[in-house]
Amino acid sequence: MTSQPGPVLRMSYLAASIAGVAFFVLSVAWLGVWPARKLAEQARLTGPEHPLALTASEVRGRAVYAREGCAYCHSQQVRFTDADIARFGAPTMAWETRGDTPHMMGTRRIGPDLARVSGTRSQDWHLTHLYAPRSVVPASVMPAYRHLFQGAPDQPGQSARDLVAYLETLGRVRDLAWPGGEAPAEVVHPARARRTGEVPELQADGDAALGAMLYAGHCAACHGASGIGDGPGAVGLRPRPTNLALHSYSQERVAEVLWNGVAGTAMPAWRDRSIEELSALAAHLQRISVPGVPADPLRADQIRPTDEERDLGGRIYAANCAQCHGAEGAGDGSAAIDLPVAPTNFTRQTPMFDEALRALRNGIDGTPMAPWGSRLSGDELTAVAHYVREFYGGRR
Ligand code: HEC
Ligand code: HEC
Ligand code: HEC
Repeated sequence: MTSQPGPVLRMSYLAASIAGVAFFVLSVAWLGVWPARKLAEQARLTGPEHPLALTASEVRGRAVYAREGCAYCHSQQVRFTDADIARFGAPTMAWETRGDTPHMMGTRRIGPDLARVSGTRSQDWHLTHLYAPRSVVPASVMPAYRHLFQGAPDQPGQSARDLVAYLETLGRVRDLAWPGGEAPAEVVHPARARRTGEVPELQADGDAALGAMLYAGHCAACHGASGIGDGPGAVGLRPRPTNLALHSYSQERVAEVLWNGVAGTAMPAWRDRSIEELSALAAHLQRISVPGVPADPLRADQIRPTDEERDLGGRIYAANCAQCHGAEGAGDGSAAIDLPVAPTNFTRQTPMFDEALRALRNGIDGTPMAPWGSRLSGDELTAVAHYVREFYGGRR
């Protein structure tokens, strides 16, 4: 005799299927729909209403970024961890990647995160780096993207230009839109060059041997092994890396350059290094660069100007140079503040005479320093080249 399932058991199939469907619907709602709505709401509340859209060039650059596989090595998401914030800046908020479809967040970090890379490097640095990463960062494992160029780092093709334009958008909207409050977007990339900022005092007795090692590993790529500005990275950079052997610097100026970089140029800041390492670098730099006026009277290039030359130099300077370099040579003329590269402060550094004359004749490509060779006579050039060197009081 076969027993029929009772009414309760027959109902349980129904109950189980209803429970099953309900569980499914609930899971989708709870784990999928609700968080998505929450996120959209959060993005709407925290983000700017009209974020800056990408230009045509930036959109093309984004496609190059995707095509070349940059995302295999670079993430675009600063996590909410102390280490990430210290290195890259403010953590990524949901709204920042809202319009990023398909997103470029990436998962691997063989190279550094790029979410805050806008404004950290100059364009010539980016181009040189893409053309040959090891020419500016000797230990880099990043592949070279020469096919985006026409044979030289200063001859980028359209896709290289687009790519750099795209890189300049990463973090830009956050920089522009952040209403303030949270960890300021000021906590920036260590390499971002600044024109101002507290500069720590470096030790006067830095370890020059350590400095020489650090120099070979980090600086020689641009400034050349002996400091004369002929490193492999120098070719595509405007302005060119300084010929350190033809300049003298006060210790203060060296500290400032190492801590802040030189804004508007490819010279990065090195403030992620310890004070001990920076002091070591400073000690090495003071060996490469020449002692300034009036330390070594025997140097041929330290011939003193005559009184007439000094008068002439003063007049030329006041009429043509003071608005940028400042009446007292401190780089604080009335026009200085608006310039992309700050005019040289001659009280804290000085070029050798020949180098000053060369800068005057040719100008400095990539900076607002124009050539004066066609505007001033030979005598006037000589006089004013002497004149600017006299602001420097010698190595301090
Ligand atoms: C094989 C991995 C790899 C790939 C692929 C790669 N990179 Fe890199 N990238 C690195 C490494 C490692 C560094 C750090 C060393 C250096 O600065 O060269 C780096 C550094 C950088 C930096 C400097 C970031 C900083 O904060 O200093 C930028 C910008 C950059 N890469 C852009 C790109 C772009 C754009 C692409 C695609 C065209 C790309 N990278 C592809 C590994 C990679
Ligand atoms: C990516 C290339 C690059 C690297 C790497 C680099 N520099 Fe520079 N450096 C430059 C450029 C470009 C300038 C700016 C020239 C100018 O202001 O006209 C410069 C300027 C300087 C100056 C002179 C500033 C002045 O106003 O004359 C000093 C000093 C200096 N760098 C030291 C260093 C040291 C030390 C290192 C290594 C820790 C280093 N640089 C690494 C490119 C580089
Ligand atoms: C429009 C502003 C401006 C004017 C005007 C100007 N300069 Fe400059 N000068 C600069 C800038 C900017 C630099 C480059 C700083 C750098 O490369 O970091 C510079 C650099 C120099 C240098 C090279 C310094 C070095 O350390 O190598 C010399 C020398 C110099 N100027 C002299 C003069 C003289 C002399 C005049 C007047 C005839 C003059 N400048 C007029 C802005 C100006």
